Amino acid sequence: MTIEKRILAVAAAAAFFAAMAGPAASAWAKGKAGKSSVTFGDDGSKDKKGDKKGKKDKDKAKPEPASKVEAAAQGDRAAGEKIYKINCASCHGIGGNADGVAASKFNPAPINHRNAEVMNARDDAALFRAIKEGARATGRDSAMPAFGAGLNELDIWDLIAYMRTLHVRIDTFVAGGAYYITKSYRVMSPKRIAQAVGDELKPEEEELRVYTVFRFPRHEGYAEYVPYEPGKLDKLKKNLKLGYLAFVKVRGPRGPVEVGMAMEPSAKLIRVAPSDLSAGQDVARLFQKFEGQGKRGKYELWKVAGVPPDIQKDAYKQYLRFLETVFMYEKEEKERTWMDEE
Ligand code: HEC
Repeated sequence: MTIEKRILAVAAAAAFFAAMAGPAASAWAKGKAGKSSVTFGDDGSKDKKGDKKGKKDKDKAKPEPASKVEAAAQGDRAAGEKIYKINCASCHGIGGNADGVAASKFNPAPINHRNAEVMNARDDAALFRAIKEGARATGRDSAMPAFGAGLNELDIWDLIAYMRTLHVRIDTFVAGGAYYITKSYRVMSPKRIAQAVGDELKPEEEELRVYTVFRFPRHEGYAEYVPYEPGKLDKLKKNLKLGYLAFVKVRGPRGPVEVGMAMEPSAKLIRVAPSDLSAGQDVARLFQKFEGQGKRGKYELWKVAGVPPDIQKDAYKQYLRFLETVFMYEKEEKERTWMDEE
């Protein structure tokens, strides 16, 4: 990081510390902030302490009285919004769009807190850590200041509760989702897509983040993110899989639109909707027309009534891109399942 950036970061943090001077409130139990928020219940019943097959599971060994997901859910959004405007807006923007007055000075740039793809790939514990510890926690050489000395634990949960209102959640695309995992994959065959639509993928389109969503017996509330650790994935059985989701940029009536596409394991689209809530009703209705399209097998361009051909073709191309990355996920899932069976 350059000296200039460092000074800016320090200045931003200092302005805030001056405003909030005072002892850092209640001690955040050391080491706890880094833990995942997901206490993967055995099967939803909280009181069960024993482990069925005697498999080791650290999360089960020490249940947390109130999960961090609950802590965030109980955070005061209105209070969080105020804290955000004072401390975060200079870089992350008043509305969280990463367009704060100082934003352009940073590389890497401040993240966009309205971006569903970015925000859904971070659980509450990760947000907590980033806010408390700053760049140190993000593991990158960046200007993200640490706020742990000035904001107390509850302030940070208020902030997170507010930030969660800025982006769409995974379960708005896959109803009944209890848990999800996510990882970026390369498209299996860019050539196959090019042949099907007569149009090549851009180099940056050859990779895509796939969200895999699972149901779970007796799970309530929002779908929770499960960090991608093989040991934690053994409970997410294939037969609990509800479907896949990806965020793609598609041609829209007034320019490109970021759209969430959700498909069943059969590859049929169950929901297609802009992930930016300000996209407009007409745009939302247009993309909704694609729901029900899509299947495995031969690639054939859709014919959806009432959608202009250029939008249709671009949406189809993005759908294939999504499907071809799902193939890569499924390949990995198969390998994982074999490992389980050993
Ligand atoms: C001085 C500018 C600045 C301020 C002020 C600032 N941030 Fe950031 N923030 C950044 C930058 C730059 C990044 C990108 C860091 C990276 O990619 O390594 C970032 C990244 C983040 C991340 C993502 C970390 C990750 O997981 O990669 C979160 C969450 C975040 N900021 C929250 C906040 C909150 C909440 C506030 C206010 C309490 C805040 N930031 C104030 C500059 C700032």
